[in-house]
Amino acid sequence: MPADVFTAPLKRPEHVGDDWLEPQQTHYTSEDDAIWNDLFARQMDVLPGRAASAFMAGLEKLDLGKGGVPDFKQMSEELGKLTGWSVVPVPMLIPDHVFFWHLANRRFPAGNFIRTRETFDYIQEPDVFHDVFGHVPMLSDPTFADYMQEYGKAGWKAMRYNRLKALGSLYWYTVEFGLIEEGPDDIRAYGAGILSGPTEAVFAVEAESPNRIMLNVDRVMRTDYVISDLQPTYFVIESFEDLYRQTVERDFDRLYRNLPPAFTYANSAIIDVDNVVHRGTQEYLLRGGRGSGAAPV
Ligand SMILES: [Fe+2]
Repeated sequence: MPADVFTAPLKRPEHVGDDWLEPQQTHYTSEDDAIWNDLFARQMDVLPGRAASAFMAGLEKLDLGKGGVPDFKQMSEELGKLTGWSVVPVPMLIPDHVFFWHLANRRFPAGNFIRTRETFDYIQEPDVFHDVFGHVPMLSDPTFADYMQEYGKAGWKAMRYNRLKALGSLYWYTVEFGLIEEGPDDIRAYGAGILSGPTEAVFAVEAESPNRIMLNVDRVMRTDYVISDLQPTYFVIESFEDLYRQTVERDFDRLYRNLPPAFTYANSAIIDVDNVVHRGTQEYLLRGGRGSGAAPV
């Protein structure tokens, strides 16, 4: 890592090396496995018809519903045969530059711990259910798998330009909260943040409140986002090929030089150039959002 690149001052636990990898995956209790199974079942009640076909196919190909927290080694072997990716266990948070380095080498760092019954509905930090159930199925899609690698490669460049916030927005609105248009009037979710929770899986795809706008990489990288509530806006891609193309063909050096350090657009904004699929009422947001008792309509 060049000395002029800023990295977050996270303290590295003594038992992990420079790669921040845990020596092995946590040993899960039967209660942990039961929590995984219950979370899995809850998602399967809402995802068919709402999750992208590529995601549902990935769940199947990797057999993630066979019961209990999946074994990373076994899962990586299967995933490796499909797209050359593997899943590696890390402590809760790892520094950005290490995260990008793993992605650039087709390794997906996944959290080890699983939430408890007390935090079943909402957790701040991503756990193994979010990371594996939410993210890993999409890594079995060859084009999306390439996109994730490109994203990792783009990371260090963004750090050198001090534009990590902008690149982070792209991750947020694609990898975490992305929607895809699978046919006329058929919008599905492929983002892990949507797919690993029951409320947002319905809200993102069907609710009247949020905007749904066709994705434009430049526009997204100038847009703020919400971390701890449902999104006021989702961006929709035509296909994973289109997402990949928009990203690799864009001259990020030039983009970073022209991007201001702060976001230009509010997370609920619709601007002139937007190709709007659905203009949201923002009712949920206007009624106060999370904690206000507002229904996610
Ligand atoms: Fe995530």
